[in-house]
Amino acid sequence: MKVNFFDSTREYHKRKAEIDAAIQNVIETGQFILGSHVKSLEEEVCHFTGAKYAVGVASGTDALVIASDILGFRDGAEVITSPFTFLASTSCLAKHGAKPVFVDIDEDTFNINENLIEEKITDKTKGILPIHLFSQMCNMDKIMEIAKNHDLKVLEDAAEAFGMRWKGNGSQYTHSGAVGDYGIFSFFPTKTLGGYGDGGMIITNNEELYNLAKIYRVHGASKKYHYDYIGYNSRLDSIQAAIIRVKLKYMNEAIEKRAQVAAWYKERLETLSEITIPGIKGNQKEVYYVFNILAEDRDGLAEHLKKNEIGTSIYYPVPLHLQKCFSYLGHKKGDFPVTEKMCERVLALPIYPEITEDEVDYVCNKIKEFYRG
Ligand SMILES: Cc1ncc(COP(=O)(O)O)c(C=O)c1O
Repeated sequence: MKVNFFDSTREYHKRKAEIDAAIQNVIETGQFILGSHVKSLEEEVCHFTGAKYAVGVASGTDALVIASDILGFRDGAEVITSPFTFLASTSCLAKHGAKPVFVDIDEDTFNINENLIEEKITDKTKGILPIHLFSQMCNMDKIMEIAKNHDLKVLEDAAEAFGMRWKGNGSQYTHSGAVGDYGIFSFFPTKTLGGYGDGGMIITNNEELYNLAKIYRVHGASKKYHYDYIGYNSRLDSIQAAIIRVKLKYMNEAIEKRAQVAAWYKERLETLSEITIPGIKGNQKEVYYVFNILAEDRDGLAEHLKKNEIGTSIYYPVPLHLQKCFSYLGHKKGDFPVTEKMCERVLALPIYPEITEDEVDYVCNKIKEFYRG
């Protein structure tokens, strides 16, 4: 049996008629740039997430770059974030000359350890950039309280967090990205809400920040050929928007199926002493974008699975503080020990709504075979 790490074709074949019609509609109407599909998707994302405003942009990376620029994460400003993430969460700061200030992660969640944030605040600190990774949100109660007490801006990297909701000690759930000043999503194909190419979105509840994001995505123009700022050319492609709109209709079903797959893995793997399955912390609704295990002899296990035609992935093999591009920050091995430990042990198993129970069985049997022979 072959089990791909990610497979977009099964979903496509299930929804082929709708997706093909959506693509054709864009071509036939000729609305290629910021047409009705982008506008409708923005409204539908607002409806799904409860955010007041949404702005479709070319990628999650661009969403972070634009939001950082507008929030003033630039020119020597310090922004507190985690080194256990995808490059874009931090390069968006470095691009504008802001200084990423890393804080180690929580061993149980892979997310920023909220208890270590306050000690890193200086008079140059401008904001916090929490990243909601894999399946769960950061402790947004604590992060928002710190931000309020120190007058800091919060940019939520919710690239991986579509569908995740935080309640904490509050009275209701709030969707990822809709808690801070800005939140961003990625529509990269593997994501819970993925397109068939690059795409991203900025959400906010603040009208002024919404208007600025709209202006910044079209070269800084407040009206055609009138430029108030040096902005970007970063628009969500209309064909992607049309495809993503189809997928959004089935989002709750897709999230439930991911939860089912995660439950299958947990049932089959929880008795293996060589494996730890990370839990969920805080009052929140998790979404299994990625299903990670922490594994003894991780690289040996990954090799064994590969030989048996099972795809896996490592998010993230090298932490950002040890990447060459951030060597100017002067960090060394040992600076963020929890992050470094996770980079050595973490392994992501295949998860997508269309994976079957037989395939999960096969993956788990091969994992057991590796440890038990
Ligand atoms: C945590 C995180 N931030 C940012 C990004 C960047 O998103 P994109 O690939 O759409 O540019 C990604 C996804 O790849 C991500 O996982």
